[in-house]
Amino acid sequence: MDTPIISARGLTKTFTVARRPVTAVAGLDLDVTEGELLAFLGPNGAGKSTSIRMLTTLLPPTSGTARVAGHDVRTERARVRRAIGYVGQGNSAGHNQRVRDELLSQGAFYGMARRAATQRADELIESLDLAQLADRTVMNLSGGQKRRLDIALGLMHRPRVLFLDEPSTGLDPQSRANLWEHILDLRRTSGTTVFLTTHYLEEADNFAERVLVMDHGAVIADDTADRLKSELAGDVVTLGFTSPEDAATAVPVVGKRTGRTVERLDATTLRVTVDGGPALVPVLTRELDAAAAPPVRLALREPTLDDVFLSLTGRSLREAGAATPEHAEPAPV
Ligand SMILES: Nc1ncnc2c1ncn2[C@@H]1O[C@H](COP(=O)(O)OP(=O)(O)OP(=O)(O)O)[C@@H](O)[C@H]1O
Ligand SMILES: [Mg+2]
Repeated sequence: MDTPIISARGLTKTFTVARRPVTAVAGLDLDVTEGELLAFLGPNGAGKSTSIRMLTTLLPPTSGTARVAGHDVRTERARVRRAIGYVGQGNSAGHNQRVRDELLSQGAFYGMARRAATQRADELIESLDLAQLADRTVMNLSGGQKRRLDIALGLMHRPRVLFLDEPSTGLDPQSRANLWEHILDLRRTSGTTVFLTTHYLEEADNFAERVLVMDHGAVIADDTADRLKSELAGDVVTLGFTSPEDAATAVPVVGKRTGRTVERLDATTLRVTVDGGPALVPVLTRELDAAAAPPVRLALREPTLDDVFLSLTGRSLREAGAATPEHAEPAPV
């Protein structure tokens, strides 16, 4: 499809907090092709939810324009809403209704016939593992169970575009895996466009076709995870030495060979980010041996999206509260 299913130009939101302007989103430009799966990454307060809330018509933009499924988010809000599903970051109905009835009400709200709604509810109950809970009252579900219901609600009317704001936060690993199975399946079978935010970097890395990195209200990178990692980050080499003196001797040797800044992690450990780590490591080891500062521990790690963020901003997403696996300790040589 040539016309993008989501497009935004200069989309901006400025809030007034304590009588001072706070720009949450500063000129978002975006084109999304139908069927794409996009992940928004960025630290707390980057502007991810605000962007999504503007695209879903929940917040009026301060300036700029956006169209979703062919409709203007400012002037055709009802049309946009019919075409999309939205699962907000803090959703979770606290209702007195039972799970199955909640789904049927959602179907009715979107004008689905009773029979189609029942069939759809059963499908979602099955695929989001809600069968044991279908007759329970929503109020009494656990946080993760409610989250699964929220997602089922967003999917009831088979929207063309699905916006999910941190869908997997608070889910146990099994439920996260089920949820992703469902999202991927939905795309395969219905070609649904999925626009989501996550703090789980490995989810964006593994499942999204396109990753948008946001910081301070602006998109600072927009590409596939693989290209972002290979172009903006590099292989991370960690070298351990027997003494601080050896480590000190090694710093200029490593710096000269790699042309990169060498980080001193502690008295006897150095870290450097390089291109083509596997080819470089044996060369480095030889040169360090020759300089009488042989490394006794060595680790080579492929870059993560956290390294991408670090190289773009000088800050780590992990420090900003994002969940990433810890990198491996250097192993003995
Ligand atoms: N209703 C509001 N009134 C005032 N400021 C707001 C409002 N909503 C968001 N903000 C501010 O806008 C900025 C962006 O917030 P937003 O919720 O979009 O961030 P986010 O990227 O979704 O963060 P998180 O990862 O924590 O969900 C923050 O500085 C936030 O404090
Ligand atoms: Mg948010």
